[in-house]
Amino acid sequence: MDINIIYHAQKMHDLTSQLKKDGRSIGFVPTMGALHAGHVSLIEKAKAENDIVVCSIFVNPTQFNDPKDLENYPRMPEMDIALLKSAGADIVFLPTPSEIYPNGPQLLAISLGFMEETMEGAFRPGHFRGVATVVNRLFEIVQPANSYFGEKDFQQLAIIRKVVVLLNHTTNIVGCPTLREPDGLAMSSRNMLLTTEQRKAAPLIYKAMEMAKEFIPHHSPAAVIELVKRYIQKSSYLSVQYFELVNPDTLEDISNWEEGQPVQGCIAVLTEGPRLIDNIRYE
Ligand code: PAJ
Repeated sequence: MDINIIYHAQKMHDLTSQLKKDGRSIGFVPTMGALHAGHVSLIEKAKAENDIVVCSIFVNPTQFNDPKDLENYPRMPEMDIALLKSAGADIVFLPTPSEIYPNGPQLLAISLGFMEETMEGAFRPGHFRGVATVVNRLFEIVQPANSYFGEKDFQQLAIIRKVVVLLNHTTNIVGCPTLREPDGLAMSSRNMLLTTEQRKAAPLIYKAMEMAKEFIPHHSPAAVIELVKRYIQKSSYLSVQYFELVNPDTLEDISNWEEGQPVQGCIAVLTEGPRLIDNIRYE
């Protein structure tokens, strides 16, 4: 079956309504395009667990706090569609901003509290409100049984789980592991904006977070944070914006190790080009 490309929200909604009536389950993978193997892994999981896979490609203006970042965000819909075809997606939803925001970009009026203010939220004010707004709208249009999100964006995943509860969405949120390049760098659409030197330095980020596993038994959380930052800062191409050790559910900082309490290390690193984020689980 050829892939079905849909541009209009109403048409998308009508199609999924019909599919649901016919008893088909819908798996949904929302993206901003410039697709890579990480996105494909989400498509494949959705395909294994649902009758129909819908992938949306929409560079959502309301989640960009920096207009330059929005302008520079890579866009390559033809290549994306070819990749989605070979990955076995059934439907691509490619809306324009006016299809998603027919009355202008009105942000969702829900309170996400601390979760949208910490880490990414502190450095990208309004970012998660924009993410929550677009994801809520996409869920209404696509009506998926299951929706797939990467752990690569750990805070986003935690926030989307909360939005689903707050707004009584029925879709089941499935978290998927981070795909990495062979040298450990987390795959990201923004990686293609790195210079050769920045790209060479970037694997230090994950290496440092991995190395922390050895320090944890003998150092306090604060000391581990310092060691990781110092290790990355050895490269003149990388500057750590934050590295935090948090409770994976609440995102609250942890100040002491507790037996049996998993900890998520979350990091953002500045280059002179794109800003890179990654995270790791410490059991
Ligand atoms: P985007 O950055 O395109 O990512 C789409 C999905 O792919 C997200 O769930 C993201 O976590 C996942 N992803 C990205 N890199 C990955 C990797 N290396 N391994 C596994 N999964 C990965 O995240 C967004 O778009 C947007 O914020 C969106 C949710 C679509 C709302 O606009």
